[in-house]
Amino acid sequence: MGESRSSSANARLYERALEILPGGVSRNTVLRKPHPLYADHAAGCRITDIEGVERIDFSNNMASLIHGHAHPAIVEAVTEQLKRGTAFSEATEIEVRCAEHLVSRNAGFEKLRFVNSGTEAVMGALKASRAFTGRAKIAKIEGAYHGQYDYAEVSQNPNPGNWGDVDAPRSVPVAWGTPPAALADVVVIPFNDTERALALLDRHRGELACVLMDLMPHRVGLNLAEPPFVKAIREWTEADGALLVLDEIITFRSEYGGAQTWYDLTPDLTTLGKFIGGGFPVGALAGRAEVMNVMDPLAEFVQFPHSGTFSANPITMTAGLTAMELFDEEAVQRINALAARAREGIEEAIRSTGITACVTGGGSLLRVHVKASPPTNYREAFLNAEETRQLTGLLGHLLDEGITMINTCTAAMSTVMGESEIDTLVSAMERGFAKIRETG
Ligand SMILES: Cc1ncc(COP(=O)(O)O)c(C=O)c1O
Repeated sequence: MGESRSSSANARLYERALEILPGGVSRNTVLRKPHPLYADHAAGCRITDIEGVERIDFSNNMASLIHGHAHPAIVEAVTEQLKRGTAFSEATEIEVRCAEHLVSRNAGFEKLRFVNSGTEAVMGALKASRAFTGRAKIAKIEGAYHGQYDYAEVSQNPNPGNWGDVDAPRSVPVAWGTPPAALADVVVIPFNDTERALALLDRHRGELACVLMDLMPHRVGLNLAEPPFVKAIREWTEADGALLVLDEIITFRSEYGGAQTWYDLTPDLTTLGKFIGGGFPVGALAGRAEVMNVMDPLAEFVQFPHSGTFSANPITMTAGLTAMELFDEEAVQRINALAARAREGIEEAIRSTGITACVTGGGSLLRVHVKASPPTNYREAFLNAEETRQLTGLLGHLLDEGITMINTCTAAMSTVMGESEIDTLVSAMERGFAKIRETG
């Protein structure tokens, strides 16, 4: 990490990128200081940059590559489809097969539609909720990331200077110029705090189209929602006539039918994305037929007309179906066990080095915090300047040791990993902790 900007091929390419892309990138998540790393090629769980440096990939394109890179079965299936055409104005059989597969994974997915990204899936779910209920407002968890739709992104990254009182969290815009009406239509509730959440929801009885919720929101600390909290929110929505929209864009990987199957819970709608596209852009919304039918173009009155040029394109559908079929019950449990091994190993490394840190996560995910105890909500997960400095140092150390992580120090396992990759991560982490202990 210590090289000067102009000394490396990565740095030189970034100089060119800075001329034409704002900040030199098309997505902020790839930005690293002093420059991003440019991928050249990847296979399995290893990715090689344009300078020939190979690293184990625990980021997996932001938790979307469940089988790592260039899985042979996906490459073969997509190669065949590429020769037959990439996108049509006609429907395809593979779209139907992909939908049939998804509905077979979860009894609550009575109907579904495909879109091109998680952002689009959440946007579709919110619009479907409004169309179904005839209400405009939504509620969401403070700090939760749900993509870039105006309403869904409210209070995605507030800070102590603007997040307001804990009993009345402010609706904080992400983009400058967000219409005030959008902010007014979003009710922000705290995670895993039943009493406060219900008190806030009660102020908006009869006004909410839905409560939007992630059962293990990454940016809120990657902690599982507590069952009594989930139950209380579900009961509130049912009593009020609002819908419950679960964002399983990341967490669907946690169990064969999604993390929701860990709870006694059937949401009205579920949003999906990431791994279900087999490495290609994807999103989907699934749920109760009665709600999904607001999109039915055959209805006399179409409440929510819905389209997209590349939605359900046969490349994504082919890759997605192949990836999902390979990610069977056994594969899910195998990578969950790998993540559990990593979490335990990192906890042991924290104990043995005596540094202030902890691990959260569930299923096939983990996140390391440089905090004494696992944060239970966004305000606790928020990193102060010193914690940011320590975490950036730890991520830099891991890169130097040949490991890439998601920039919050989060790791997403893939099926092409084994115990040796987990043990490599744990020992690199231990050396990183020792450095923090020595240098502060
Ligand atoms: C929980 C969740 N929802 C929605 C999104 C948005 O998905 P996309 O980046 O495909 O638009 C993400 C992306 O990271 C996510 O993690």
